[in-house]
Amino acid sequence: MQTVLLFGKTGQVGFELERALSPNCRLIAPGHAEADLTNADAIRTLINSTKPDVIVNAAGFTIVDAAEKQADLVMQLNATAPGIIAECAEHCGALLIHYSTTFVFDGTRREPYTETDVPNPVNTYGRSKLAGERAIMAACRQYLILRANWVYSARRTNFALAILKLAREKPELEIVDDQLGSPTWATDYAEATAHLIADPDSLREKPGIYHMSAQSYCSRMQWAQKLIACAQARTGSTAAWATLRPTTTAQYPHPAPRPLYTVTNNHKIEGAFGIRMPPWEDRIQPFLQTLPPH
Ligand SMILES: NC(=O)c1ccc[n+]([C@@H]2O[C@H](COP(=O)([O-])OP(=O)(O)OC[C@H]3O[C@@H](n4cnc5c(N)ncnc54)[C@H](OP(=O)(O)O)[C@@H]3O)[C@@H](O)[C@H]2O)c1
Repeated sequence: MQTVLLFGKTGQVGFELERALSPNCRLIAPGHAEADLTNADAIRTLINSTKPDVIVNAAGFTIVDAAEKQADLVMQLNATAPGIIAECAEHCGALLIHYSTTFVFDGTRREPYTETDVPNPVNTYGRSKLAGERAIMAACRQYLILRANWVYSARRTNFALAILKLAREKPELEIVDDQLGSPTWATDYAEATAHLIADPDSLREKPGIYHMSAQSYCSRMQWAQKLIACAQARTGSTAAWATLRPTTTAQYPHPAPRPLYTVTNNHKIEGAFGIRMPPWEDRIQPFLQTLPPH
């Protein structure tokens, strides 16, 4: 049985990873307090003492707007720490699976990004994640960098939870209609990762960057509409839900600039490992079932 060391077990993806991985491996999942990724010595000691076969790094600084004001911490967590983890993975022969983001792109394209497209991040978060990818590639040979897009789950803060809450509190909501992406349920990332880890030899033969997002795409407005329609169907009531009004990113500025288009081409991971993520629209109902009834 493989030993898997998981960082970030309290996060959206990490929480689901702990559930998905634990039946099939010896899972070591330290929390933030036990393995603070700002402490290089702690990372090294943990990896050298546990000698994992696989390291999964789902930890990081993910609050895109807050990142603008905390660039040093963001770089430490999203770039320096992954580099140290990668060095240790190389040293002990572990395979490293790390989550990155489609926010490494500037969003100026209008056709799905492939892994060979040149990154050009437009905000601090994206720059830190790109620096993390590069640090990993410089430090170890056996890695999978999985670029994720618009992650949501029943935990922490995310667009889906925010819309479901605000749509019950306000009569109207303005939602941007010009940001396009692929909402991906954290559970699907975790299950796909567990599937990958089940065949480590195959992963070791094909290291690299892989795009792994839900199939098909939508605007944030379409995502919000689908969330509300499914929630209404679930509660059986269309009363007292906000009316959604479309707006643009330019009219709704954030502290961190947003790439407008982060849709990915996922053919590489399907060809290499047979991973085909479900269409985003099909995952809203199962996600809602994980929430407490309203
Ligand atoms: N969220 C998205 O939309 C999105 C999109 C694309 C890619 N990704 C990537 O996917 C990965 C997982 O994202 P997520 O949304 O699941 O993240 P998340 O919910 O924000 O969770 C982040 C995790 O990192 C941990 N962490 C934060 N600071 C730490 C520190 N100093 N030491 C150790 N652990 C620390 C957190 O622990 P505590 O809670 O205990 O602090 C938490 O477990 C990240 O690499 C992210 O960049 C996310």
